[in-house]
Amino acid sequence: MLETKTERIVTPARNILGSLRIPGDKSISHRYALLSALAGGTTKLTNFSTGADCASSLGCADALGATVTRRENGAIEITGTGGSFKYSTSPLDCGNSGSTMRMLTGLLAATPNTYTLIGDESLSRRPMERIRKPIYQMGAEISLTDGHAPITVSGGKLKAIDYTTPVPSAQVKTAILFAGLQAEGSTTVRESVRTRDHGELALRAFGAHVDRSTDSTSIAGGQPLQAIEAAVPGDISSAAFFLCAAALFPGSNLVFDSLGLNPTRATLLDVLTALGAHIGVLNLEEKNGELVGTVQVNAPANGLKGTTICGALSAQLIDELPVLAAIAPYTQNGIRIRDAKELRVKESDRIALVANNLRKMGAQVEEFEDGLDVPGGQKLHGAEINSGGDHRIAMAFSVAALKATGDTMIQGAESAAISFPEFYDLLNQVAER
Ligand code: S3P
Repeated sequence: MLETKTERIVTPARNILGSLRIPGDKSISHRYALLSALAGGTTKLTNFSTGADCASSLGCADALGATVTRRENGAIEITGTGGSFKYSTSPLDCGNSGSTMRMLTGLLAATPNTYTLIGDESLSRRPMERIRKPIYQMGAEISLTDGHAPITVSGGKLKAIDYTTPVPSAQVKTAILFAGLQAEGSTTVRESVRTRDHGELALRAFGAHVDRSTDSTSIAGGQPLQAIEAAVPGDISSAAFFLCAAALFPGSNLVFDSLGLNPTRATLLDVLTALGAHIGVLNLEEKNGELVGTVQVNAPANGLKGTTICGALSAQLIDELPVLAAIAPYTQNGIRIRDAKELRVKESDRIALVANNLRKMGAQVEEFEDGLDVPGGQKLHGAEINSGGDHRIAMAFSVAALKATGDTMIQGAESAAISFPEFYDLLNQVAER
């Protein structure tokens, strides 16, 4: 948990230039950390996420009996338990991380012990019934506190289920697959929108057989996992702040090396292209099932156009919507976001916070239950931004600040470290002032 509250001043920029190597993807790092704790042998990971969220997953892996070693070169080695998790008398602390809490619930569902999962104030407000229901159906005893954390998981013998997720969620899908791996029979998860598939790819990398069709994923129980060696691809949701910043400044040029380009995560590149930005992708490679490549972004000479994001696109772009909304006033025709009600139950109510902070910077914005209308052609001024302790809000408004008149103060700026501790340093590195 982050203790000190810090403010940061972000000054306007003239241009964005340079090349960046973004730390490892948060979603992939969580999955590799948790699966390596279940697997036999020692998993060796480089470019593991530097964010506090993934440190929460490593902390839980350690509490469950995996041995986590951080090497001097930044590599992380995790010696797994081979499936015999240690009993932990103290609660498993998931910090701010919904991914840790939800996926760990699935991972622990077959263990004949009782574990308590706790989180910080923000995580303790987030909905957990979506995870209790399927894991309970599989046979584990799960109790929540008014629908929220703390969660108590008493695992046991699991049976396979065929489950359709009511709300598209990769965390829930992955948790069910983690439990399914330890259940009797073949478990199927169906979803109306294909959410990020890192769980499926990670399970395969660790040696499990996973079947997929267009709208369903199945896994047979009883498959052993084997340790892997992997370099985690750069996090495209962290790169998103820089991609959007560069898209704002005609003459900009930014290159990202070894960026994760999994098609279920790379929708932002299509949106930026639709807005008129020039995106180049080269050196595409596949590593442990994940696509990785070099990405170059240049802004259009006459500014970004506008777009509407709705339906399946909103689910695929869920983590990028705050920064897209934050740059929307600078586009010509604005950005309209719908079908994104999930934003209200993230680390903060991201719809309300984006709307309030845009207004503080002088923008007109209309708020809806499931999205926002942000008209284009607006000029913003510096303001005091309330991040609400939410990393993506702090970073999104640091990007908006680059093109505003005057300085912007980000309150709760330290929250960026939840996913991207290097954010402000890298911003100073590429922003020409
Ligand atoms: C994630 C899934 C998404 C996303 C979160 C990471 C994952 O959450 O917003 O940042 O790693 O599976 P939901 O599963 O709640 O949609």
